[in-house]
Amino acid sequence: MPREIRNIVILTGAGISAESGVPTFRTKGGVNYWEVESSDGVPNLHKVEDVCTPQALARRPELVHRFYDARRAKLAEVGPNPAHLALARLDAEWPGELLLVTQNVDDLHERGGSERLIHMHGELKSALCAACGHRETWEDGLPPGAECAICGEPALRPDIVFFGEMPYHMDAIERALSSADLFVSIGTSGAVYPAAGFVQTARYHGAETLEINLDPSEGSGWFAESRRGPAGTLVPAWVDSLLA
Ligand code: OAD
Repeated sequence: MPREIRNIVILTGAGISAESGVPTFRTKGGVNYWEVESSDGVPNLHKVEDVCTPQALARRPELVHRFYDARRAKLAEVGPNPAHLALARLDAEWPGELLLVTQNVDDLHERGGSERLIHMHGELKSALCAACGHRETWEDGLPPGAECAICGEPALRPDIVFFGEMPYHMDAIERALSSADLFVSIGTSGAVYPAAGFVQTARYHGAETLEINLDPSEGSGWFAESRRGPAGTLVPAWVDSLLA
């Protein structure tokens, strides 16, 4: 007999925000490379993996801050799409446990209305003090060397998990996965761990697994069911069927 579904864990990636106009990372037209004008006017191409590291932040803070300033500014031009809104509706109406874990640093899930939400890779609209760990909401450009409101050190940095750093809230995520009846992955290529391994943890604990993605992901083989197509269409349909 199929297991009754009460506890749901949902993982989202850049693909859920694609239809809102936020570029993905690894697909065609994504932010695989970032271009900046150098002082001699010649554009430089930087691999995202070279910009989003603690080493890059230490060596070239102005480059790293400009990359995130540009992405933070872009948030004003985009809004939640039907997939974000459907997940917020599920959050509001689902009677059991539910945890939405996003790898995205945009704020479209919360603007869509989701509340049971974890940003495991950080948030564009937050600044983190590298000296004392204080966090504050940040809406505008963040110049390197900005001072922390609590300790006064010139150590505010984007509150983003860089390559090589530990994602946030892993204990809470592991706990939710261990009691999940259903794990759903939406719009992620399955290329970045530990998120890419959540499906295996959920399966180990006996959860049903569903992937909703435009293209086959690196982890598609781990899912019991895969649905191919745009999240803006498939996610509302899945939520409707779950709540019916
Ligand atoms: P990727 O860019 O790696 O993958 C996006 C996935 O979304 C691809 O598999 C696409 O097929 C799919 N996709 C694109 N448009 C879609 C749509 N309209 N509907 C459904 N699916 C769609 O993005 P992530 O998997 O999120 O880390 O990348 C994971 C992490 O790598 C990011 O969080 C970021 C990056 O380095 C940090 O910033 C720490």
